[in-house]
Amino acid sequence: MRACYRYWLTFYFHPHRNAFRAYVDWFFPTVSAWLQRDEEKAATWPARTFRRQRFFDPSEFGWIGSEKDKRVQLRRAIQSIQEKTRVMVVTGAGISAESGLPTFRGKEGYWRKWNPRRLATLEAFQRTPEIVWQFYYERRQQIRQSEPNAAHVAIVQLALNCAEFLLVTQNVDDLHDRAEYQGQRLSNGQIIHIHGKIFVSRCTNPNCDFKRNDRNAGDVEAELPRCPRCNWNLRPGVVWFDEDNDHNDEERIEKFLTKPCDVVLVIGTTATFDYIRRWVLTAAVKGAWFIEINPDKTRLSRFAHHVIHRRAARVLPQLVNEAVELGPGSFG
Ligand code: APR
Repeated sequence: MRACYRYWLTFYFHPHRNAFRAYVDWFFPTVSAWLQRDEEKAATWPARTFRRQRFFDPSEFGWIGSEKDKRVQLRRAIQSIQEKTRVMVVTGAGISAESGLPTFRGKEGYWRKWNPRRLATLEAFQRTPEIVWQFYYERRQQIRQSEPNAAHVAIVQLALNCAEFLLVTQNVDDLHDRAEYQGQRLSNGQIIHIHGKIFVSRCTNPNCDFKRNDRNAGDVEAELPRCPRCNWNLRPGVVWFDEDNDHNDEERIEKFLTKPCDVVLVIGTTATFDYIRRWVLTAAVKGAWFIEINPDKTRLSRFAHHVIHRRAARVLPQLVNEAVELGPGSFG
């Protein structure tokens, strides 16, 4: 039975494997669990012990695994960007890491040190607004002092070369908005901050729609601010764990995904949220070439056509530059 599955699974590692993988993972949870256990063991067990016990070794079947294959894959990834016109990029805290901002679940990540329930929920804000405000105030200060890095810039360059482009970022910082390539920035229509924006301060009174941008407010906002209209507390314009994303933002993403994308590029996120995985996999199942850039493995890695285990600011400019240079006007 297991041998039978093994042969059937050779397709699992085929270059055009996205739809097949999604199918296996969805309908054959046992096989999917075997594969996952294989991957986990491969990371920790000594190679000899592991090889004997391995359920499925992709390199046996020649689709993938050798260094040469990896180079071929990378070239394909570059070509896929170069030839294509409709691109979706999904980013997380990892892309801002090289600008000096901590991630959430990484080594020095916020949620390794602090409990997100106490700092990133509406309930926490209602209980201890000053403490929650202080956390966001300090993060605002840190973001003000940081600059977009080469990966943010490369995304702008990529967008300028695509016919249709959408960036879905989970980051509440404004580094994507500030990044410039040859004097140009992403337009509002090209970027969705699905978890809100940290510099927006808005009123907590449900009957008041006061909102302002505190990007340049500096020290003024160190104390929990009050609404100038109704005197209720102001809160940061981010989406907390016990809140829903903006419905309009979600609709814009779903709309973009109704037509097939050519490439979906996922950078610096653990893809913890199911809607993030769903959007990426929807694009991939509909035919997008799926590239992931992350030094670590994530819950999406095994669905990707190409995983680049490197830091975004190092590898992304190279990838985009090479794609652009491969041919003039090459994005269509
Ligand atoms: N380049 C690319 N990726 C990197 C880099 C780098 N230089 N450094 C770290 N990473 C990767 C990490 O390996 C990790 O997979 O970035 C990812 C960061 O993951 P998280 O800290 O979980 O951040 P993110 O996925 O954005 O979190 C999602 O969770 O807490 C909420 O609202 C918060 O938007 C956030 C959401």
